[in-house]
Amino acid sequence: MAGPPASLSARDVGSFAYLSVKDRSPQILTKAIDTLHRHKSEFFEKHGEKGLEAEKKAISLLSKLRNELQTDKPIVPLVEKFVDTDIWNQYLEYQQSLLNESDGKPRWFLSPWLFVECYMYRRIHEAIIQSPPIDDFDIFKELKDQNFFESQESVIALCTHLQELRKTIEDLDENQLKNEFLKVLQISLWGNKCDLSLSGGEHISQKTNIMNSLEDLKPFILVNDMDRLWSLLSNCKKTREEESVTQVDIVLDNSGFELITDLVLADFLLSSKLATKIHFYGKTIPWFVSDTTIHDFNWIIKQLKHSNNKWVSQCGVDWEDHIKTGRWVYLDHIFWTLPHEFSAMSQVAPDLYAALQKAHLIFFKGDLNYRKLTGDRRWEFTIPFHEALSGFHPAPLCSIRTLKAEVQVGLQPGQGEQLTASEPNWLTTGKYGVFQFDGPL
Ligand code: F6P
Ligand code: MG
Repeated sequence: MAGPPASLSARDVGSFAYLSVKDRSPQILTKAIDTLHRHKSEFFEKHGEKGLEAEKKAISLLSKLRNELQTDKPIVPLVEKFVDTDIWNQYLEYQQSLLNESDGKPRWFLSPWLFVECYMYRRIHEAIIQSPPIDDFDIFKELKDQNFFESQESVIALCTHLQELRKTIEDLDENQLKNEFLKVLQISLWGNKCDLSLSGGEHISQKTNIMNSLEDLKPFILVNDMDRLWSLLSNCKKTREEESVTQVDIVLDNSGFELITDLVLADFLLSSKLATKIHFYGKTIPWFVSDTTIHDFNWIIKQLKHSNNKWVSQCGVDWEDHIKTGRWVYLDHIFWTLPHEFSAMSQVAPDLYAALQKAHLIFFKGDLNYRKLTGDRRWEFTIPFHEALSGFHPAPLCSIRTLKAEVQVGLQPGQGEQLTASEPNWLTTGKYGVFQFDGPL
């Protein structure tokens, strides 16, 4: 039997992976260096001379990293002892074992893109933790917060919609409830357009009210399994016994506006009783510029709570309450910031796999999660999603993702080719989206 197809890699000159390693990644490193520069006086105020030395050290480590990348040096092991260092270094050895003798060592423009891109973010983190006392500095925090502030109009519209809906939700009939469910799903999908790594760290925020665009955006949903999600959850609701639990897990992606859309979805699931418990999974370290950490999660809820708009602040109050009462649980795990594809989870992080198995449904938000679900490989467009998951089936799951990398499976015959003919960049601009489900029919 033939194995899975090759990984996406910058060795394919002209591919999106190649352009990303060549152009976008160095830009992100340059922005990170600028950010450190700009915070110089803050570091001095906080830590005196030691803060300045630390800033210099972190900058020199990041400049070195950018140079290694741009000159296609071998990928070197991590040096600073941290919880995941050994796993990373073992993975590097594994990458070495995949190479032919003539390839030499794993390198930026040779190895799988998923690996080198994750490695870059892990090295950025290493540069920071090697530079105490600024070792808890989140280099991307400012950008994430800015994205949230710039999306205020949409945030107000979403919170208002949710609060109005909550007032009448008990009176809605099946059909009306389903329609509202489909709306919050689509909001969460298009919220994923706003990640900051695609733009090389430039701001992309949701400046206009997304709710007014849902109908116009429908043609851009390439795989639409929303009905299956409704069937699954409405069935859980109907058959659920008193006191028993319907658990939905959301593997989060970006902070800022996207996180708000995910929290709106999560609140709706509780208010509509389609679920009784939500587990959120975030990142333990700053990741792919805009991904959510526990600090972002808490920060955003606090921002909402203190808003001048009564609906927005009501959301903040309600969400804090969900957390206090344990209906919402935020969890993290180092696996999410490792380079492994998800098919390796049961081996590498069996505890996490076992935890996910308890969910009735798992949502995987965003592009990077899709790449990890499918192994970031050159699959044919028509290969079934179930097959591309390569054995990763902890529970029924659904990817909610706008397309920002050259991997897409589960399309109709001819669909991908047609898109390529009319829009050569359809895979990478974030214009298209999918709700792709895997689970019992
Ligand atoms: O390709 C653009 C990119 O930076 C990819 O590296 C990554 O897959 C993606 O954006 C991150 O997007 P998301 O935040 O949706 O996971
Ligand atoms: Mg992201």
